[in-house]
Amino acid sequence: MKEQIDKNNLPAHISIIMDGNGRWAKRFMMKRSAGHRAGATALRRLTERMNADGFKMLTVYAFSTENWKRDDEEVSYLMGLMHEYIQQYINDAKKNNVKMTVIGDMSRLEPSLRVKIAQLREMTADNDGLHLCIALNYGGRDEILRAVNKAIAGEHSSPLQETDFAKYLDTVGTPDPDLIIRTSGEMRLSNFLLWQAAYSEFIAMDVLWPDFKIEHLYKAVAQYQSRERRFGGR
Ligand code: FPP
Repeated sequence: MKEQIDKNNLPAHISIIMDGNGRWAKRFMMKRSAGHRAGATALRRLTERMNADGFKMLTVYAFSTENWKRDDEEVSYLMGLMHEYIQQYINDAKKNNVKMTVIGDMSRLEPSLRVKIAQLREMTADNDGLHLCIALNYGGRDEILRAVNKAIAGEHSSPLQETDFAKYLDTVGTPDPDLIIRTSGEMRLSNFLLWQAAYSEFIAMDVLWPDFKIEHLYKAVAQYQSRERRFGGR
């Protein structure tokens, strides 16, 4: 059952660190790849429900700049999964009304995946339902460094203010996350949205990502709504 939440006070932007695919697969004595596939399905299911329930923005951590350290088989499976799911999102672009963007360093991705991502962005640009942002080959430090380098190369008034700097980040034009959820019970940001997370509320949930459902999201939102946010003031 869904927890009661105040629909007039939804977090404008929720971010999720989708963790626990490997442990989920292990539980069923399956390969890690099966956990990632189940994780991708959990994401599709969740975005459909969030879109129907009027949520505005979700950013998910799908592949970090550090995930290349995993063995070749797992990395190539994950990249294949991105291809497959991005193609599905392209097929459903008009029907779903979900706007989709991708953040991260695209330069290391296969050209064919980059083409699909560009197509996905373009085809969903005018959708006005949920905005789903996928962090792919994303690292908070990497994003900040790329932004610094763009700022150095560009023309801007100096000294640079926070709002000026934010324009160089991958997340330009989007609100900072109000709520960051991490599944599987771990309590780390793992290089996710380091700049943007300055005043995000953090909730760690004891559920493995493939098992995550809209009910878990409602539980987190209810907890978020019970907190007082002061942004450093009193
Ligand atoms: C962390 O679990 C999960 C990942 C590194 C990959 C997340 C990717 C998906 C859920 C698929 C997303 C698909 C699309 C199309 C966006 P883990 O492997 O670290 O799990 P463990 O800690 O239990 O080993």
